[in-house]
Amino acid sequence: MPDTPSGAQAALVELLDERGLLDPTWKKVWASVPRAPFIPDPAWRQDPDRCVLVTGAARWDLIASDRPVVTQLDDGTPDGPGTATSSNSMPSMVAAQLAHLGLKDGDGVLEIGTATGYVAALLSERLGDELVHSIEIDPVLAATAQHVLDVQGYHPYLHQGDAVDGWPAPDAAFDAVLFTCATRTVPAAVLDQARPGARIVGPLIRGIGEDTVMRLVKQPDGSAIGRLTGSSNYMPMRASRAARVPVDSSTGRHSDAGRPLEPFTEGGFTLYASARLPDVRMWHTAPDLSLWAWAPDGSALRASADGLWEYGPRDLWAELRIVYAEYHAAGAPLPDAYGATVRGGDLPQVWIGSPDRVVSPVVR
Ligand SMILES: C[S@@+](CC[C@H](N)C(=O)[O-])C[C@H]1O[C@@H](n2cnc3c(N)ncnc32)[C@H](O)[C@@H]1O
Repeated sequence: MPDTPSGAQAALVELLDERGLLDPTWKKVWASVPRAPFIPDPAWRQDPDRCVLVTGAARWDLIASDRPVVTQLDDGTPDGPGTATSSNSMPSMVAAQLAHLGLKDGDGVLEIGTATGYVAALLSERLGDELVHSIEIDPVLAATAQHVLDVQGYHPYLHQGDAVDGWPAPDAAFDAVLFTCATRTVPAAVLDQARPGARIVGPLIRGIGEDTVMRLVKQPDGSAIGRLTGSSNYMPMRASRAARVPVDSSTGRHSDAGRPLEPFTEGGFTLYASARLPDVRMWHTAPDLSLWAWAPDGSALRASADGLWEYGPRDLWAELRIVYAEYHAAGAPLPDAYGATVRGGDLPQVWIGSPDRVVSPVVR
């Protein structure tokens, strides 16, 4: 059980290295920048149903582990429901995303979501302070990160504000952009500040299924194109948080779902369906599989072994079944077949195999 910053960091570097996530350059960087000084008190562990305060040995174990450390609840407001709103992210996810950035000496990078300042410190150690810019929307977190980074001897450029507006300098231009909060798209101002050839990496929110990771490259025509790979679980950018829609339970209708539910949870299908029905949210819960879905007009469904309950004006189950049939007609593409094109801050245009095979949203 590590109980010092260096002990915790040695354990963490070993863990990331064993998983093949560190090349020699990044290994040196991670070994030089301990995670522990960036973790404030209080800090929490994210359990499936709630955030649990960690102290003493449990705190050190968490810092040395490949788990996120939650560092803010409810945007810092008291007496909230205890929802995590900031964290020091899961190290293996950070290491993978840093690798996806393909940084070279001399590259300028923009990070979105400074939070504890840890990724900004890793980037500063890798590239030098002058080449690192980071934006944090929360004023308290931004001030704390500034202080901790100073104390640790790192001086990247920091800005407190909404990353939707990009870096606050008209001539800003970056060779790489890293989102460390999940987003529904690349905001237009951020896309504009990526140089042609720049890599844009980060968690992309899909309404249906788990978030994925976008690995885009800025094109000479101003768009960004690339693959969607794997899954991720980051907290959303404030502008991308899902609105809560009241469901009118008096509209409830019960029937038989009429088919197995498991295929609706497959990664290839959820990517396809989120492109066809971008306004629908769908997720599932275990161990007794239940599918849940809702739409902005208050339409909703729950499908389980007990049957199907639907609410509101839309027949979401019928829509999902039609999209499922289309997905099969398209050859049931596996998750790694998908990519996306982003233009001008619009929602990503999802494609299969190549950018000309677009999966367009259903016109309603
Ligand atoms: C998972 S944390 C990022 C972890 C961070 N990179 C680190 O090293 O500790 C996500 C952060 O994104 C911030 N955030 C959310 N929406 C934002 C926005 N629109 N602009 C800038 N930051 C935002 C949150 O306040 C939160 O602190």
